[in-house]
Parts: sequence; structure tokens; C-alpha cells
Amino acid sequence: MEPTDQAGVWRDGRTLYTRNAVPGRTVGDEAVRRSDGVEYRVWDPFHSKLAAYLLRGAPPRLWNGARSILYLGGAHGTTASHLAEAVPDALVFVVEKSPVAFAPLLALSRERPNLVPMLADAQLPERYAADVGLVDFLYQDIAQRQQAAIFAENVRTLLADGGRAVLMLKVRSVSQRRPATEVVRAARAELERADLRIVHEANLLPFSREHAALTVRA
Ligand SMILES: C[S@@+](CC[C@H](N)C(=O)[O-])C[C@H]1O[C@@H](n2cnc3c(N)ncnc32)[C@H](O)[C@@H]1O
Repeated sequence: MEPTDQAGVWRDGRTLYTRNAVPGRTVGDEAVRRSDGVEYRVWDPFHSKLAAYLLRGAPPRLWNGARSILYLGGAHGTTASHLAEAVPDALVFVVEKSPVAFAPLLALSRERPNLVPMLADAQLPERYAADVGLVDFLYQDIAQRQQAAIFAENVRTLLADGGRAVLMLKVRSVSQRRPATEVVRAARAELERADLRIVHEANLLPFSREHAALTVRA
């Protein structure tokens, strides 16, 4: 098992791990592994687009040194729990608008104190901006037609100078009919119109056919 260039993420071959913040407990049905007396959880790229992106060549050091992270579209917390483990000294604010998904997220946060769940709509960053403050890394994974616009507004409002942000673009939520390449091109154009600097793009094959990842830099 060796460290990767993303803080708090280890790998053994193609398998990624984070250090389990609550040894003996898993978040889903992920496998665990002990090494030198430390328990690690497998970060499954088929269940987490962020893990898939790391394996598909995401830029190095996306969140290294971050003190504060904003995660939009936390759902039940599968990915957010790994991110919170990767940055134990940072706060990870997790915005989720569905009360049904929020309940397990809240339960998760009771055992993982650096994971801060917020029942809120990512379309209205002004509602949580004062609580969150500026962040060093922002991650968005929400299946909505206006994903790129929501991302641009959150980045503009909340990303600190020098920070990085990743948009997990769900192509079929934008359009059922248009080719994926066209949807990605339109999203890129929208981010550029908002003055965001796109530094990396990748598809997530073979882990997900439906998504493209875009990284921007403040
Ligand atoms: C694909 S799931 C996220 C999966 C999660 N990121 C993971 O990897 O564990 C998308 C989530 O975004 C939430 N969502 C959709 N629109 C939202 C919005 N405007 N604000 C906040 N959350 C939203 C949905 O309720 C859903 O839980």
C-alpha cells in the first residue's frame, strides 16, 4: 500500500483506500483492510465518481493543504465520507437538498465530526455562504439540468483564490438526446463565460458512461 499524490488517499495497484475514521464500522458494504495496525476502507470507483476520476488521471494535489471543503450533492455520504477521511484536519461542508438523503448523512456526521451536513439547495449559495465561508476545494455531483450554472455560481461565491473545484457533469441530466461531446462542450463554454479556468477534463470510463469530470482553478 502506498500514498498517492492526493492527500489522505492510498493505493495498492488499482485499488484506492482512505483511512477509516471509525474503525470497525463501514459506511456502505465496502471492503476494509488492515495494514500496520491501521484500518482502511476501499474507495470503490464504481460507487464514487470522485474515486473514478482519481483513477482516470485527475490533477494531483486537488485538496492537499485544504482547511475547508464544500461538497454539493452529498446524497447518503458515500463519497463525502472518504473525502472527510482524506482531510481529517479540514471541515467538509456537505450540501444536500433531499430530506430523505439528508437523514443518513446526518447520522454519518455524528461519528465523523469534520463532516458538516447542510440541508440546503445548491442553487442558492447565498443561503449557506455565511456559514461555510471561503473554501479551498469544491466538489459538485448533482443530477440537474443547470449543473454548470449552479457550479459556476458556487465557485464564484465560495472558492478561495488558488483553490480548485471539480464538476462531475451528468450528461443525461442536461439532455437525453444531444451527443455527450456536445453537452460537455456546452458546459465548458458556460464555465468559460463565467471566467472559470478549466485545467483538466476526463471521462470516467469504464466506471461510469454518463459522466465527464471538469476541474477548474480559481
Ligand atoms: C448522484 S447523487 C450524489 C452522489 C454522491 N455525490 C456520492 O458520490 O456519494 C446526487 C445528489 O444531489 C442531490 N441534489 C440534486 N439537486 C440538488 C441541489 N440543487 N442542491 C443540493 N443537492 C441536490 C440529490 O438529492 C442527490 O442526493
